[in-house]
Amino acid sequence: MTKVALITGITGQDGSYLAEHLLARGYEVHGIVRRVALEDPRDRLWRLDAILPRITLHAASLESYASLFHVADKVRPDECYHLAAQSFVNYSFEDAFSTINANINGTLFVLSAIQDRVPGCRFYFAATSEMFGKVDHSPQTEATPFHPRSPYGISKVAGFDLARNYRESYGLFACSGILFNHESPRRGREFVTRKITSAAARIKLGLDTSVRLGNLAAQRDWGFAGDYVEAMWLMLQQDAPGDYVVATGRTHSVEEFARRAFAKVGLDYSEHVVTDPAFFRPAEVELLCGDYSRAREQLGWSPRVDLDELIEMMVQADLQSEASRPR
Ligand code: NAP
Ligand code: GDD
Repeated sequence: MTKVALITGITGQDGSYLAEHLLARGYEVHGIVRRVALEDPRDRLWRLDAILPRITLHAASLESYASLFHVADKVRPDECYHLAAQSFVNYSFEDAFSTINANINGTLFVLSAIQDRVPGCRFYFAATSEMFGKVDHSPQTEATPFHPRSPYGISKVAGFDLARNYRESYGLFACSGILFNHESPRRGREFVTRKITSAAARIKLGLDTSVRLGNLAAQRDWGFAGDYVEAMWLMLQQDAPGDYVVATGRTHSVEEFARRAFAKVGLDYSEHVVTDPAFFRPAEVELLCGDYSRAREQLGWSPRVDLDELIEMMVQADLQSEASRPR
């Protein structure tokens, strides 16, 4: 029988790759979007362009329990992937209230609606390495204590605890993927990797001369989003629910990412990157590096795309899109 999947946050980077992954596996795919997205599909549904005719979108909001309950009741999914969130760490410092509200209450609303309408549904929560925050050892595993450093990180720890509590209290098949940073040509331009690759492309094309960045010393474990959505799906195919770190096990500084991205277009990053205090955070996560042994051993998952291939993919896509962008 055809399996039915419901994805919150389907318009985002991960939602779009996951929807493609599930369609390729024969799923009937439904997504929750904000009403405004349906009114402005060109700007808001661009990541879904290629698959729009094959998916069903429902207007609902993380702020409204009634809207989520209604969609859960109508779709009756076999699997629910809860990806929707205010996901930008910088913004969570600017507006902690809306971040906490959408990310914590929104997660509770989705969990509650699923538990009420389709208690047999398998549930995935988009947890994050930001939960580790200020780490005192590396690499991080599922056993590493959480010390979040932003309202965003705090909201995700609460979401993680909520998912675990629904598993322990009600027997819901709830899994959290503790995903480390993952990127792609579909990454939002506010995140540092895409900010760098799009700047490198613009500067190469003579459309700009410099890019302003914050903390160049921060180190991240960057993987490819297309690989990571497969791990999400694998978690929900296991005999028992669990939580898994998903990462590459390698870490690099923002400066190193910039050096490599600019080198791809024959430029020296140090001539174009300007450090700007405006992009520093009130509290920083200095180092993240994941140990994905559990995912490898239990899910049979490993990353396929390495950092060099990822940067190449992103720079080439940005060269194309910047060259064809109307001016
Ligand atoms: P993204 O590109 O920022 O997508 C976020 C999605 O959430 C979008 O579809 C957005 O819809 C939706 N959303 C935000 N606020 C909403 C609200 N109030 N009501 C309904 N929908 C709302 O994020 P992503 O990179 O795909 O990440 C997916 C999930 O994984 C997020 O929960 C993120 O926190 C988590 N995560 C990401 C990473 C990473 O490195 N990418 C790592 C670990 C965890 P609109 O299009 O309408 O804005
Ligand atoms: N965004 C941004 N812009 N970050 C900068 C900049 C800049 O100009 N300059 C330096 N950085 C540094 C940040 O201070 C941070 O240490 C690092 O680059 C990565 O920043 P982001 O790309 O914004 O990602 P993030 O690590 O804060 O959060 C992303 O990954 C998390 C997983 O660890 C997001 O996708 C989160 O939603 C996700 O949970």
